[in-house]
Amino acid sequence: MKRNILFVDDEPNILQGLRRMLRPMREQWEMHFAASGQEALEILARVPMDAVVSDMRMPGMNGPELLRRVMHEHPETVRFALSGYSDQDMVGRSIAPTHQYLTKPCDEKKLIQALTEAMDARGFISNKDLLDKIGRIEHLPVLPKAYVRITDELSKGDPSPKLIGEIVSDDIGLSANILKLVNSAYFGLARPIASPQQAVIVLGVNVIRSVILSLHVFKSFDCTEESSFSLSLLWEHCLRTAGLAKAIAKVEGMVKEDADNAYIAALLHDVGKLLLNAFFSTEYQEVFRVVRGENRLVAEVEAEQLGLTHAQVGAYLLGLWGLPSAVVHAVARHHARTPGPGGLCPADVVYFANQLDHDVFVFNAHYARPPVDPERLAAIGGPDRYARWRDEALALSLNKEET
Ligand SMILES: [Fe+2]
Ligand SMILES: [Fe+2]
Repeated sequence: MKRNILFVDDEPNILQGLRRMLRPMREQWEMHFAASGQEALEILARVPMDAVVSDMRMPGMNGPELLRRVMHEHPETVRFALSGYSDQDMVGRSIAPTHQYLTKPCDEKKLIQALTEAMDARGFISNKDLLDKIGRIEHLPVLPKAYVRITDELSKGDPSPKLIGEIVSDDIGLSANILKLVNSAYFGLARPIASPQQAVIVLGVNVIRSVILSLHVFKSFDCTEESSFSLSLLWEHCLRTAGLAKAIAKVEGMVKEDADNAYIAALLHDVGKLLLNAFFSTEYQEVFRVVRGENRLVAEVEAEQLGLTHAQVGAYLLGLWGLPSAVVHAVARHHARTPGPGGLCPADVVYFANQLDHDVFVFNAHYARPPVDPERLAAIGGPDRYARWRDEALALSLNKEET
């Protein structure tokens, strides 16, 4: 079935350009064009859209107003802002009802990929009521500014550590938190890191970018007075899992891109728990009451009571944000009992890193420890390989080590 996408811009030239540029997508997408927010709402009332891509500065109803209306009236629709870079501040990033920002001019490949992946992300949530509820969350955090700026720089080529360091340093709170974190035992570095530039040199741009994102996500979701679980213990679990994922990837000699994706996914794998805890707190407290009372697995009770797991919710959120699909799929599958197709991939690394952390660090005696699923174990070549990962990953992730 074709997907419906609505493009909104008051400049006819921009709409014309988009129409021309996206012509190759005619078979997959039914494209609609509107010259104002009002016209967009009229079209939306007739045709349900999979995605809306809107300009921000428009006379009459501006982009943020339009996307807010879309959020309330059509919560399942993916919402993109396509605007000039300088307009991003005007939108008020932290509360904007926008899933992703794309800057003009946006090249064809980037736009098609970003839209496709964000629309696909909805597939992680099959429960329509929940999709609507999540779609209507006003304060769903948006990507942090430093993350977006670094991603922009990366798309232009290979940015210098100095430039990335400057982006991080622009946010004093962020750079202090990054330095505190990278100098903590979790990173096991031999020498202390004194500046964001040095952190980029030692850890790499992708690791720094994912650390920025995870710090932001944990901070943004720390809003409930009655949390179902300890956020700081979850944060520590995610940091350890990321360290273990990095070590497994090293043991296996994975290529850098896969190793980075495994690291990022491991750091963010339980982000769905944060979202459920913050926005569905009553239901989630009940989930944890059962988990603790009956010593059950969290994902199993979530599936039973909510009809979906934190793995799906996390993948949905990261997919909407446009993280690499390998990361999104690794998060989606970190409790899956069967392996995906193909050889060892970031999703397997995250699954086993999470297992290893539960095996080695029991962080709550009331939770059941997930057994390693036999099919997943067989897919990596049996218990011996897991045991080797366990030994080598623990040695690597606990030792002082700089790469
Ligand atoms: Fe999990
Ligand atoms: Fe986990």
